[in-house]
Amino acid sequence: MAKFFKYKTLDMLREDVEQLGVKVRLEDELRACLEPLDVGGRTVGNRFAIHPMEGCDGELDGKPGELTIRRWERFGAGGAKLIWGEATAVAEEARANTRQLLINEDNLASLADMLERTRKAHRDSMGGDGDLLIGLQLTHSGRYSYKGPLIAQHDPVVDAVTIADKKKRLFVTDEYPIQTDDELKAAGDALVEGARLAARAGFDFVDIKQCHRYLLSELLAARMRPGPYGGSYENRTRLAREVIGRMKDELGDRLILASRLNVYDGAPFFQDPDTGAGSPKDMPTPYIGGWGTNPDNPLVPDYTEPTQYARDMEKWGIRLLNISMGSPYYNPHVGRPFERPPIDGYTSPEHPLIGVERHFDAAAVIQAATPNVPVIGTGYSWLQHFFANAGEANLRDGRVSMIGVGRGSLAYPDFAKDAVEKGQLARNKACVAVSYCTALMRAKHNDMGQYPTGCVPRDKPYADIYKHALATDPTRDA
Ligand SMILES: Cc1cc2nc3c(=O)[nH]c(=O)nc-3n(C[C@H](O)[C@H](O)[C@H](O)COP(=O)(O)O)c2cc1C
Repeated sequence: MAKFFKYKTLDMLREDVEQLGVKVRLEDELRACLEPLDVGGRTVGNRFAIHPMEGCDGELDGKPGELTIRRWERFGAGGAKLIWGEATAVAEEARANTRQLLINEDNLASLADMLERTRKAHRDSMGGDGDLLIGLQLTHSGRYSYKGPLIAQHDPVVDAVTIADKKKRLFVTDEYPIQTDDELKAAGDALVEGARLAARAGFDFVDIKQCHRYLLSELLAARMRPGPYGGSYENRTRLAREVIGRMKDELGDRLILASRLNVYDGAPFFQDPDTGAGSPKDMPTPYIGGWGTNPDNPLVPDYTEPTQYARDMEKWGIRLLNISMGSPYYNPHVGRPFERPPIDGYTSPEHPLIGVERHFDAAAVIQAATPNVPVIGTGYSWLQHFFANAGEANLRDGRVSMIGVGRGSLAYPDFAKDAVEKGQLARNKACVAVSYCTALMRAKHNDMGQYPTGCVPRDKPYADIYKHALATDPTRDA
């Protein structure tokens, strides 16, 4: 298997950047990433953000579990000044797994308690939390709801890779029902109620999640859906517009409104049986089922609509954007450039630096379109301990306002503290992008129907959990 990341020094990485001709700049000295930033009228103490990273470790009723609280406290103590709390479902049927957090009246006190513990961990570690922002990602899993897909439209290309019945391994067919307009409105109501509850719990911001092909993300691409929520740009953005408008009117003075937005969906990939590498599925073009996706060549982004949409969302009241792309289910290399493939994936069909560049460019396009809305970029973790040097360059070049770290924050939650105190990151603490966290996410064969996930190579409890998952996996040969 190709080894991509082989860089002991920044200069070695620069050599590959040059050879590949990718636009990834690296600064030696960390300065811009330590500066404060205004987000929705609040001061954020540095430019490091923890991306939403679910641990699939809640209780069955959706309250945080022991490992959830541990993860959040580690994020709090780690020194990043913006923590984008993980995917939290707004209804039972909208959860992506049996242990995903669920926001409702019954779970509110435990979510508020976890929030306060996270703030305390930050105060103990950093001396104060007045410049720390913590938000919550409100999600409706739509097509990827664990009890069964709740789809926004029929897209033959995506339907063919969406499992409708896990036991029978059946995929979504044309007869499968799509969500009615009333069901979509009910999902909108649940999102608004989720925001009310998040405000009561004390979160600083909520994320109206529109990424990774969950419900609102799929709707943005619903050109094939009939009726008021499909077809035209105006219709496809209607539900989000309604939800954002209601939240702004009701909660705008208490909550900052944010959104994690896919700006490119791309197309499904599969594992080539001969090479093991990812290969795009054969599909008829023009393919109109992808948001931000060039219909004539779905392997290439087209940011025209996402750019317009970012501007529109600013008008409606969104004050913070987090840019992402792809689907974790059908083209994982797009969202998470990786060294080794996830268990349900394929080896990377491109040098991961090309994926990193795609992320950086996407964030830069949106930041240029909405200069007054801070944009958080994605795609940093594969760069291991050099991600801060790349983020520093992006900040200095005005291509982004904050650096968001996903897998890297599970491996190395105190990266920001090291950046502040030591001026650089430690190689032996960084994420190595070998996808064990995804393997655990996909492991469902315990009594809760879901294994918790975290960093197997760098965080001892997860090495033990992974060993257990492997030893008990019914699909592995004895
Ligand atoms: C274990 C795991 C959990 C994740 N949970 C979420 C989530 O709750 N919400 C979300 O928007 N993205 C989630 N993601 C995606 C990450 O936030 C991030 O976009 C992705 O890992 C790429 O960033 P990175 O290169 O820094 O890891 C998750 C990814 C992984 C591997």
